[in-house]
Order: sequence, then C-alpha cells, then structure tokens
Amino acid sequence: MNNTELINRINELKNKRNAIILAHNYQNVEVQDIADITGDSLELSRKASQTKADVIVFCGVSFMAETAAILSPEKKVLLPDTNAGCPLANMINAEDVIALRKKYPNAPVVSYVNTSAAVKAETDIACTSANAIKVVGSLKGKEIIFIPDKYLGTYVQSKTPDKKLILWEGYCPTHLKILPEHILELKNKYPDAKVIVHPECRTEVANLADAALSTSGMIKYAKESNAKTFIVGTEIGLLHKLKKENPEKTFLPASNLAVCPNMKLITLEKILWSLEEMKPEVLIPKDIREKALNSVNRMIEIVA
Ligand code: 13P
Repeated sequence: MNNTELINRINELKNKRNAIILAHNYQNVEVQDIADITGDSLELSRKASQTKADVIVFCGVSFMAETAAILSPEKKVLLPDTNAGCPLANMINAEDVIALRKKYPNAPVVSYVNTSAAVKAETDIACTSANAIKVVGSLKGKEIIFIPDKYLGTYVQSKTPDKKLILWEGYCPTHLKILPEHILELKNKYPDAKVIVHPECRTEVANLADAALSTSGMIKYAKESNAKTFIVGTEIGLLHKLKKENPEKTFLPASNLAVCPNMKLITLEKILWSLEEMKPEVLIPKDIREKALNSVNRMIEIVA
C-alpha cells in the first residue's frame, strides 16, 4: 500500500471506530500530518480528557498514552507500538518515590508527566514542561521533591528561588545530544537568530537560549517573534510544525542528532494495523489509575 492508500484506509477505520488520532510534536512528519490533533504533552492530555471519541490512537511514547488512559478510562487508548517507551520515564520507579518520601517526609512530590502511571500514583501533582514553574510555585512549603528530570528541575529551580527542589538524576538522552558548542557555532553564523530550547536540555544549553519552552511553547514563540531565523534545541520532529506554520521563517536544528528513536517507532502502517486489530490497548490497573488520576487532575486544575 502506498501512503495515500494507507491514509484513506486509516480515515475509513477512524470513522467506523469513532476514533481520534493524537500525535506528539516529535512524531514522524506523515504521522503528524494525518493526526486530528498535534501538540505538547499538556495539550494532548487536555484533548484526551475532552474528546467525545470512543477510541484514542495515541502517536507518542508510552507515558503519554498512559496519561490519556488515566484521564479517559471509558475510552480505548491504543499505542500503535508498545516498544515506544521513554528512557527518562524509566529512570525512576514507584519504590524510588516511596523511598524519597521517607527521606523527605514533609516535601510534596511533583512528577514530570514523563513518568509511568505507577510513579504518578505515588505523586502529589504532575506537571509538564509547559506548566512546571506554575505547579511548583503553587505548592506551599519550601522543600519540594521534583522528579525525574534533573535538567528541567534545575531550570524550574532557577525560576522559583523561594523553593528548594530535591532533584532526581534523570535525563532525556535525546536532549543531551545537544551541546553548548552546537548553539555557539550556529549563533556565530547567524548572529540575529533567536535560540529556543526545551528545558530538558543541559543547563549550559538552556543558559545560552533566549527562551526555554515546551514544544508548543516554542511554536507560539516562533509565531509571535519578529525574528526571521531560529536555532531550535529539541527533538528535530518539531521542525516540521515550526516550518509548516511559519513558512517565511528559517528554523535550524541545534543538532541533527537530536532524534528520539522511540517517537519514530510510530508509522502509518502501525496506525492502520492498530485500528484494524484494536490493539495494543493501554491498560492500567484500577487502583494505580485512580491514584495517578488525582495527580494529573491536580495539575490540570492548577493550569486550567
Ligand atoms: P512537551 O510537553 O514540551 O511536548 O515535551 C514532551 C517531551 O517528552 C519532551 O522530551
């Protein structure tokens, strides 16, 4: 089947199943182009909780599909490739969170959404890169456990000086491929370019940026800025939407090595197969889902 045939068949099945396709901003170009909604983690969570569809085909990595399933237990959430995990999310488990709570009994736990449902179940409130500063700022008390991304945590700490964040040694291997010298080289060549990066980048990289933002935050920034050229420090899948929405502007990847192999596992063929077979379904044990839902709902309430 060629892409047109695949897309036609996907659309037919989507109607038949009353399904919606949600895709993260890092997805393969052809997946982004057939999605009903593309967005950052926060937008996709919101959409998952609001849609009237019976089926959500989630084109992203497993923690994102799990978040959709946490928010919409009455819907079938399909993740077209169960191997699409997140190494950052895998760097902490529920037992680690329980141990942290024992060590710091008075500190609430903020979990970046890049965590498993089991970790979210042990968490007071979730956050995404779009709202982490607001979530941390909303909490009473000084000490806060912030897991699992130490770079996002360091960035949030720099914006919330009245708090003391207890960080975990987690990181995103894809964002770590972006080095300060990549930014400096490009900045040398394009001195008028604005530098926009994801806060999962190394602190030395974030310190060189004009703005550290969520993926959708970068899209908004690029739209609203008068600059013509942008150096983009994140997974290169984001460049598709940046270029599509700003055809008159130039976007330069900080590093072509910043490719998330897990995000790229989702293909049109796998989406079609998933809709045909109605699997693989994301299933979360009820007790974990209910506890995890509290932490995700608290986040959504704060930023609503
Ligand atoms: P956003 O929420 O900014 O889209 O980021 C998701 C992510 O996993 C970044 O690596």
